[in-house]
Amino acid sequence: MKILINGAGGKLGRELTLYFGTLGYEVVALDRNTWDITDEKQTQQMISGIRPDVLIHCAAYTKVDFCESNQEVAEEIHSIATRQIAQCCQEYGVRMVYISTNYVFEGTKRSGYKESDPTRPLNHYGWTKRQGELAVEEFCSNGIIIRTSWLYGHIGANFVTSIWKNAEQGAALRVVKDEIGNPTYAIDFADCLCRLLQEKETKGIYHVSGSGVCSWYEFALEILKQAKVNARIQAITTEEMGRKAIRPINSVLISERNIQLPDWRDALKRFFIRELQDNEGN
Ligand SMILES: NC(=O)c1ccc[n+]([C@@H]2O[C@H](COP(=O)([O-])OP(=O)(O)OC[C@H]3O[C@@H](n4cnc5c(N)ncnc54)[C@H](OP(=O)(O)O)[C@@H]3O)[C@@H](O)[C@H]2O)c1
Repeated sequence: MKILINGAGGKLGRELTLYFGTLGYEVVALDRNTWDITDEKQTQQMISGIRPDVLIHCAAYTKVDFCESNQEVAEEIHSIATRQIAQCCQEYGVRMVYISTNYVFEGTKRSGYKESDPTRPLNHYGWTKRQGELAVEEFCSNGIIIRTSWLYGHIGANFVTSIWKNAEQGAALRVVKDEIGNPTYAIDFADCLCRLLQEKETKGIYHVSGSGVCSWYEFALEILKQAKVNARIQAITTEEMGRKAIRPINSVLISERNIQLPDWRDALKRFFIRELQDNEGN
């Protein structure tokens, strides 16, 4: 299987490049400098020239608050470019995997959100990502849409590494206590994606997030516990955080399609074990 990954300079793109490469897949990983997805001609050239079996579309404008003030940019990347990629994948018989987000939901439901639940994004990031999903559904007959949430892994800065490092340096920590979701370990995400790609029937929307629910505050407390760092965290409300983009209060993803990732606390343990091993190896 030949896999093409765009946005491969980003956190998930790099993680998946390493993961599939280590398993022996032929991976072509392109960052923004090599393939700017807002350049339609480049999109056509890359997909028709490389002719992968699978394209994992990781490229995105992930700064949620900046998306509110740069709405055209978010729309260009998430909606327009994704539509062009979807059309191209259909034309060249490429299986397209679009990575989407829990932010397509409004967050008022009492239980977790299933794949078939109606979407209602609260912010422009979520709205444009949803437009991308609709484009994949419209143009790619075998398109795969994977919604995930609160991703962290071994490459690049993320919530886990920033809480851990900041606590070690004695920085003041303020973390939101009233937004709940599922932390997702990138390696578990990659395992699941790899399994899904083995199945010919895989198509449509899938929720791929760590099992179990927590608030950002509970997540931060668990990070400190497992990292064995003694620090104080101030729990604040999403309102007190005062960010430009509104976040869904409950963006918990559950799956009605037989997807189950390991529990988030267990995943965090494995994350720290590997971090420790990597540090000892260096
Ligand atoms: N991180 C999460 O918690 C999370 C949760 C749910 C879903 N997702 C989705 O997962 C995917 C990967 O996210 P991530 O966490 O890896 O984010 P990331 O680290 O910000 O990676 C996104 C990459 O896309 C690149 N990019 C931006 N504009 C581009 C363009 N015009 N052409 C080509 N590449 C472009 C970025 O390059 P620059 O850095 O140069 O701009 C960056 O390298 C995204 O689709 C995101 O929506 C992430």
